[in-house]
Amino acid sequence: MKRNYKTIRFVIGAAFTGLVLASFSSCGKKDANSPGVEYMPDMYRSPSLEYYSSSVFEGDTLNTARLPVKGTVARGFIPYAYANTPEGYEQAGLNLHNPLDASQRELWEKEGEVLFGKFCIHCHGATGAGDGKVALKLPGAPPAYTSAALKNLPEGKIFHSITYGKNLMGSHSSLLSVDERWKLVCFVQKLQGPKGVAVDSTAKAVVTPTVTEVKK
Ligand code: HEC
Repeated sequence: MKRNYKTIRFVIGAAFTGLVLASFSSCGKKDANSPGVEYMPDMYRSPSLEYYSSSVFEGDTLNTARLPVKGTVARGFIPYAYANTPEGYEQAGLNLHNPLDASQRELWEKEGEVLFGKFCIHCHGATGAGDGKVALKLPGAPPAYTSAALKNLPEGKIFHSITYGKNLMGSHSSLLSVDERWKLVCFVQKLQGPKGVAVDSTAKAVVTPTVTEVKK
C-alpha cells in the first residue's frame, strides 16, 4: 500500500509539473513571436509608457519621445539669458561674468583642468594650442588660446562658446553644468595667460598633418 501512495503522488506531481510547463510554453501558437501564456502580465506590461514604444497620439511620429511642455523649466535649471546669435555673443562678452567665488580660483582651475582632460583636450590639446588628436582631423583646427584671436577673449564669450558651441565645436550645455562650464572658463583663462599681446600672432597652431599622423 505504501508503495502505491508513492506512485500516485509521483504521477500527480509529474502531471502537475507538465501542466505548468505546458502553460508557459508557446508551442503550437500560430504567432511565432508570441511569448505564450504570461505569468503575471503586469510585470511585462506596466501602465507607464515605454521608451520608443509606438505612438499614443494619433498622427504624429514622436511616439513616446515627447518634448517638454512649452515653457517648462527643469528643477535646478538656470535659464541662460543670451541668445545663440552674434549679438548674444557680443552681449555675453560685455555683461556675463564668472559667478564662482574668486577666492577659490585655484581650486576651480584644478577642477577645470580635470574637465578639460575629459571634454576638450582631444581638440584643443593639453596646453590649448589647438593640437589635440581630433583637431588634426578637423578641416579647421581651433586657434591656440594664446593666439591673437583668443588671447584676450573675455570670460563671457568663453562661457557662451562652451554653452552653444562655435562652428566645428559642438554645444556642451547638455554635458556640463553651469558651474562646470565656469570652472572650464577658469582653466582656459589659465592657458590664455595674462591678458596682453598674443604670443603667436599668426593664430593657427596646427599645421596640416602628415599622412602617418592621420593614420594613428
Ligand atoms: C570637436 C573639437 C572640439 C571640442 C571637443 C572642443 N572644442 Fe573648443 N573649439 C573647437 C574649434 C574648431 C574652435 C574654433 C571655432 C571657430 O572660431 O571657428 C573652438 C573654439 C573654442 C574657443 C574659442 C571660442 C570663441 O568664442 O572664439 C574656446 C574658449 C573653446 N573652444 C573652449 C573649449 C572647451 C572649454 C572645450 C571643452 C568643454 C572645447 N572647446 C571643446 C573645437 C573643439
